[in-house]
Amino acid sequence: MSADGAKPRSLDREGERSGRLSFAAVRYHLTSFGCQMNDHDSERMRGVLEEIGYRESASRDDADLILFNTCTIRGSADDRFMGNLGDAHRVKRERPDVVVAVGGCWAQSQQRMVFEQFPFVDIAFGPGEVARLGELIARERIDSVGAFSFDGAFSGGLPARRDRPHQAWLQISVGCNCVCSYCIVPTVRGRERSRTAREIVEEARGLAADGVREITLLGQNVNAYGRDIPKDERATFAELLGMVAGIDGIERVRYTSPHPKDMREDVIRVMAETPEVCDHLHLPAQSGSTRVLKRMRRTYSRERYLDLVHRLRDAIPDISLTTDLIVGFPGETDEDFAETLSLVREARYDGAYTFIYSPRPGTEAAEEMQDDVPAEVKRERIQALVELVQVTARERAQRFVGSTREVLVEGPSRNDAGRLRGRLSQNITVNFAGTAEPGTFARVSITDATSTTLGGVEVAALAAARG
Ligand code: SAH
Ligand code: SF4
Ligand code: F3S
Repeated sequence: MSADGAKPRSLDREGERSGRLSFAAVRYHLTSFGCQMNDHDSERMRGVLEEIGYRESASRDDADLILFNTCTIRGSADDRFMGNLGDAHRVKRERPDVVVAVGGCWAQSQQRMVFEQFPFVDIAFGPGEVARLGELIARERIDSVGAFSFDGAFSGGLPARRDRPHQAWLQISVGCNCVCSYCIVPTVRGRERSRTAREIVEEARGLAADGVREITLLGQNVNAYGRDIPKDERATFAELLGMVAGIDGIERVRYTSPHPKDMREDVIRVMAETPEVCDHLHLPAQSGSTRVLKRMRRTYSRERYLDLVHRLRDAIPDISLTTDLIVGFPGETDEDFAETLSLVREARYDGAYTFIYSPRPGTEAAEEMQDDVPAEVKRERIQALVELVQVTARERAQRFVGSTREVLVEGPSRNDAGRLRGRLSQNITVNFAGTAEPGTFARVSITDATSTTLGGVEVAALAAARG
């Protein structure tokens, strides 16, 4: 904070003697919650702020701007954020000049109510307004500001500060036109909007030139890409995958999250025929019971979902499949839940995110269905599901043990700095002994497996060790 009490966020000009214009360091602290879309948007928030002279601060106590990128997918996401917002309130009481800004999905769900409930918040903005962050900060000097439209620029076009040099998100669409009865995303992210194929390919080329080797195409319903834009500006999702995979320097392409109902045969073919398109699919099932799926408005049955799984496995035998599953949806019986368990066995997932149903205000399920599964039963079900997923994932992971696989090296292992960490095409993390550089491929002999990670030894390093 400046000594004269001026709002520290005004950028002071300094250093003009040297003929260069530089700015006094104004510091921001960003906490990001939620899914990959938010991770992507947070990279853009960092990029936008750093372009206007802000530097990141390690703690809220040292920051001039306390920024949050929020999630509201379940009640637990709101609770986690409330704890953090309380901490920002503490800082604001100690240093009233600090600016508190709340962006993302929770902010969108509350809109201007944020200022009534939390008067210490200076700026609130939704996920469609990331491009206006700089402007909002400037306007805040005059008054508290809120911005919640969905018709602004894509955040994908903004400057980014990426912390992973060889991997990048690439936003191809935003929003969701589905009406899953439990889900708040369509309310807080708006209708589906796609970027043009040309814009996407240009961004991918730029990323490749920056040293990126792996691109993950992002969208709430990523494989519904393009329906909202004129034919001459889009490609099919399958074509888009092929175009990005064909860019020099791009060695791996992933995408998330696809909706099973939009998973077309041409996409499966491109996955099977294009080596750069990874052998992994996150295919949210939500439930194994057709009756529940219907009430969730997922628009597919258990049988259709499993048929898709079988077609994927026929075309891409080594594919790994992960999923999202919800337990305790209104009206879910023991029989329905048993069908979810049997779906896990039949689909043979390599991993799954499992959630207890959480009623979200304004959604069809929250407004029109009784949250009638007792908390105790929900807990029992999720426990049984987590255990089964672990068993299945551990069994699946055994198929790698004893084989030699290509691993894209990401950096030092998280638990053991003497080892390296990377991932298989199947999106499974491998911790291994070796000397390969981040951003390159290592050939790794896989020696052991848990339900979530593999262990191994780089083949060249192995040869050296054996003399
Ligand atoms: N767009 C993605 C992910 C949406 S949110 C998709 O459709 O796949 C991520 C996951 O959160 C969902 O797949 C779902 O499993 C879970 N989820 C969403 N709303 C929920 C709610 N109200 N209660 C519990 N889990 C929920
Ligand atoms: Fe939510 Fe369904 Fe859209 Fe996924 S597809 S974001 S679960 S409404
Ligand atoms: Fe959360 Fe918004 Fe993603 S609600 S899960 S951050 S789309």
